Amino acid sequence: MTGISFWLNGSETHIPAGESPTRTLLDWLREVRGLKGTKEGCNEGDCGACTVILRDKTGARAVNSCILFLPQLDGRAIRTVEGITSPNGQMHPVQQAMISHHGSQCGFCTPGFIASMTAAHLNGDTAHDDTLAGNLCRCTGYAPIIRAAMAAESAPIPDWLEKDVDFICPKISSGGEAEGRGGQTAPLRPRNTDALAALYAATPEATLIAGATDIGLWVTKQLRALNPVIFLNGIPDLQEITESETGLRLGAMVTIARLREAVQHSHPALAELLRRFASAQIRNTATIGGNIANGSPIGDSPPALIAAGATLHLRRGAERRALPLEDFFLDYRKQDRRPGEFVEAITLPPAPDLSCYKLSKRFDQDISALCGCFNITVTDGRITAARIAFGGMAGIPKRAPATEAALTGSLWSEATIRVAMGALAKDYQPLSDMRASATYRLSAAQNLLLRCFYERAGLETSVLRVAP
Ligand SMILES: Cc1cc2nc3c(=O)[nH]c(=O)nc-3n(C[C@H](O)[C@H](O)[C@H](O)COP(=O)(O)OP(=O)(O)OC[C@H]3O[C@@H](n4cnc5c(N)ncnc54)[C@H](O)[C@@H]3O)c2cc1C
Ligand code: FES
Ligand code: FES
Repeated sequence: MTGISFWLNGSETHIPAGESPTRTLLDWLREVRGLKGTKEGCNEGDCGACTVILRDKTGARAVNSCILFLPQLDGRAIRTVEGITSPNGQMHPVQQAMISHHGSQCGFCTPGFIASMTAAHLNGDTAHDDTLAGNLCRCTGYAPIIRAAMAAESAPIPDWLEKDVDFICPKISSGGEAEGRGGQTAPLRPRNTDALAALYAATPEATLIAGATDIGLWVTKQLRALNPVIFLNGIPDLQEITESETGLRLGAMVTIARLREAVQHSHPALAELLRRFASAQIRNTATIGGNIANGSPIGDSPPALIAAGATLHLRRGAERRALPLEDFFLDYRKQDRRPGEFVEAITLPPAPDLSCYKLSKRFDQDISALCGCFNITVTDGRITAARIAFGGMAGIPKRAPATEAALTGSLWSEATIRVAMGALAKDYQPLSDMRASATYRLSAAQNLLLRCFYERAGLETSVLRVAP
C-alpha cells in the first residue's frame, strides 16, 4: 500500500509504502510498535479486548482493532490504552474509577473496557449497557464496571485527549490517496464514487472493503490473502444521508451506528433493532452497504429494509440501476450483482407501521437466529397493505407472500392473525443449524406475528421484564 499518516496517542505517525493493506491495526500495534496494552482475545470482533478509540472529523468512537486494516486509519486519530493515560502518567477519570470501584481482576479485558468507557465519556454517552455490550469480562462481572463508568460520567474530558481534534481538523484530509500500487495490482483508496466506479469496472476481481467487519475475519480466521483490494472509506459521497419526499437515501458507507441515529425518530423499530446489531464497536465500523452486499441470510438490516419497501441503487461504471431490495437476493449467497457493480445507496421510505423483532441466543452481541419485520397498514379496522420479511428462515432474507395475501383485505383481528400464522408455513421451510432448529424457527416466526398484533393492541409483550 502507499504510506498512510495518522495520529497515534498524540503523535503524528507514518506507515511507509509497502506494508500489506490487510495488516490489522492490532497486529501492527503489538508487533511493530510494541504497544501491548491492547489485547488479542478472539481476533474476530467478539470480545472487545482489542478496543481502541478512533477519532475523525465526525467524532470519536470505540472500534475493534483486530479487524481494522491499516488503510482505514489514514487521516484519523487513534488512542490505545497507553495514550488514554496522560503523557506524564496521569490517569483518565475512567481508569481511576475502575480502580476505586474494583472493576478489574485478571485485567485481560480491562484495556478494552477502558477504551470503550473513554470513548463513551468523550461523547457524553451514559447508556453503559449498550456501550459496553461488546466488551466481555470473565472474572470481575459487570456491576463494578458499570458502577465505575457511572462514577466517571461527570468528570471533565482531560485536555490531552482534546489534542486529537486539533490534529485531525487542520492537518489531514481523510480522503486519502487515490494511487497506491505498493504490493498490489490496483489502487487502494478512490476519493469519490466516480473514481470508484471507473476503478472497479476496470478491476472487477478486486475485493471491495467497507467496514471490514466481515472481511476482517476472512483475513484473521481464514488466513486469506486478498489482492487486489479497494477501500471505500476515503469516499465522502458514499457516506451521505439525504432526506427527500421518497424517504432517506443512505450512502452505502453509512455505518450502522449512524443509520441507527438517523432513523431514531422516523423508524423507531429499526433503530431499536440496530441497538442489538452486534456491539458498539462493530456498529461504529460496519456499513449498511456491507450488510446488504454480503448476502447473508441472517443479516439484520435486510428484513427490516425489505419490509419497509427499500430500493437498492447499484452502479457499474457510468451505468446505474435501482431495484426493490428483495429482488437483489436470488439464492443462498447469490445476489443480483454483476462483476464490477457495487452498492451505491439504499432508499428507505417512511414506514410508520414497521415492527421489527430479533431473536438470538444472547440479547447483546449475537447474530440472529431469526429476525422478523412486519409492515402492516390497517385502515378502519381492515388490513390494507402488508409487507413481511424474515431473516434466518430461508437461504436469503425473504418476503412472505402467502402470509401477506392472507392478511391483506381481512379484518385486523386475532382470528385473521391466526390464519396468517398458518400461512407462514407455506412461505418458509427453515433449516436446523447451531442457532436454532427448524421447528423452533417456524413456531417462533408465527408467534412473532401474534406478538406484533398484541403489541399494536397495546398489550404488554416485553420479554426483558419478568411480570410480577
Ligand atoms: C462480532 C460480530 C458481530 C456481528 N453481529 C452482526 C449482527 O448482529 N447483525 C448483522 O447483521 N451482522 C452482524 N455482523 C456481520 C457484519 O458486521 C455486517 O454484515 C456488516 O454490516 C458488514 O459491513 P462491513 O461494512 O463491515 O462490510 P465488509 O466486511 O467491508 O464487506 C462485506 C462484504 O460486502 C462487500 N461490500 C461492502 N461494501 C460494498 C458495496 N458498497 N458494494 C458492493 N459490495 C460491497 C464486500 O466486498 C464483502 O464481500 C457481525 C460481525 C461481527 C464480526
Ligand atoms: S480481539 Fe476480540 S474483539 Fe478484537
Ligand atoms: S478482569 Fe478478567 S476478564 Fe475481566
